[in-house]
Amino acid sequence: MKVSVVGLGKAGLPLAAVIADAGLEVIGVDLDKSKTELINKGINPIKEEQGLSELIKKYGGKRLKAVSDPIAAAKESNTHIIIVPLFIDEDKKPDFSLIKKALENVGKGLKKNDLVVLETTVPIKTTETIVRDILEKNSGLKAGKDFYLAYSPERIMTGYAISRFKEFPKLVGGVSKKSTDKAFNLYKKFAMPIKVSNSRTAELAKIAEGIYRDVNIALANELFKVSEHYGIDFWEVKEAAKHQYCNILEPGNVGGHCIPVYPWFLINETNVPLIKLARNINDDMINYYAKKIEKFGGKRVGVMGLSYREGVKEKAYSRSIDLIRLLKKKGYEVYGLDPLYSKEEIEKEFSVKYLDDFKKIDAIILMNKESQYKNKLKSIKNKVVDVKNVLG
Ligand SMILES: NC(=O)c1ccc[n+]([C@@H]2O[C@H](COP(=O)([O-])OP(=O)(O)OC[C@H]3O[C@@H](n4cnc5c(N)ncnc54)[C@H](O)[C@@H]3O)[C@@H](O)[C@H]2O)c1
Repeated sequence: MKVSVVGLGKAGLPLAAVIADAGLEVIGVDLDKSKTELINKGINPIKEEQGLSELIKKYGGKRLKAVSDPIAAAKESNTHIIIVPLFIDEDKKPDFSLIKKALENVGKGLKKNDLVVLETTVPIKTTETIVRDILEKNSGLKAGKDFYLAYSPERIMTGYAISRFKEFPKLVGGVSKKSTDKAFNLYKKFAMPIKVSNSRTAELAKIAEGIYRDVNIALANELFKVSEHYGIDFWEVKEAAKHQYCNILEPGNVGGHCIPVYPWFLINETNVPLIKLARNINDDMINYYAKKIEKFGGKRVGVMGLSYREGVKEKAYSRSIDLIRLLKKKGYEVYGLDPLYSKEEIEKEFSVKYLDDFKKIDAIILMNKESQYKNKLKSIKNKVVDVKNVLG
């Protein structure tokens, strides 16, 4: 068995490393040559991923070979796992362009009896429609008959991707029973697979777990506002209300490329008012925080924590970006700080002034609680709106 993993990003590279660690030959495919070169030298390009550096050092360029020619890689392997991102556009519609390109390449190298598994989180029925069509068209083979096709969602969280393989069951659902069985046997070698009826069940299960959190964070956000309205400590309420049937989540922003994205797959296609409302409540939290800052007076505000979540250098769907835009629209002069980004990166990528001196600002919105902030915050205490980018 030779496995190719297409897309060596924050989700794909840990997966490729875990497969190599299980003793299988892995071809890691990425269009970004600078990334494949690093990996083949044994250097981990995703520093924040715990345990990954050791695995890349051990297997990079050896049992895990990284390449940037996707068709040659597809020809050389008989098991193909695709894990490239799927974004939504301004209108919240999914943009399949990266997935389509990856599938075309896999299709061109596909052979009889090969197994293809998609891991990217996608709208329901994507595997049995778009994925199947592109693979069949480019290979001339039939899914479920000549080759096997399944969906198995990644369930990682950056920073904990490797341990997740031992903690979370891996759902597997194929377009045919044999496809499910084939994929199950693959994942048995390095994860804890569970079979579900078909690919669309696995697709919905993945989206459902994200929506569960989104809706419950929206509930926490409303209870947080209610607590503030009555002058009650939300955190005390959260703890006091806790029992077997009630676990209120933490309120805050919902950023990153997962939870803010996936609910739209259902909202776009079905009538789900609760899911849509929750999404909007969470997105709208930046307005609540921007309003709170008004009480401190002044027009110079610092935003601390720019990535979508603390400890992860990733700005996809970061609520800090929208907050900065909103504050500027309200006439504020906005300063930014994040230990993960240099002065130059902060100014260029977030379009704010670098916050080098707290005397320059009148108040702070604390988006992430990086430990490095603690001392700095002392100088401006009582003028802080303490928020949290909950997850992504
Ligand atoms: N990072 C996370 O915390 C996280 C968590 C959960 C889920 N996910 C999901 O995992 C999936 C992948 O996201 P990611 O975070 O790994 O993305 P990423 O942006 O970190 O990496 C994607 C990689 O794919 C490569 N790529 C793009 N198109 C390609 C193609 N046609 N052929 C080969 N390589 C290609 C890019 O060069 C890049 O290196 C997404 O569905 C994402 O939502 C990520």
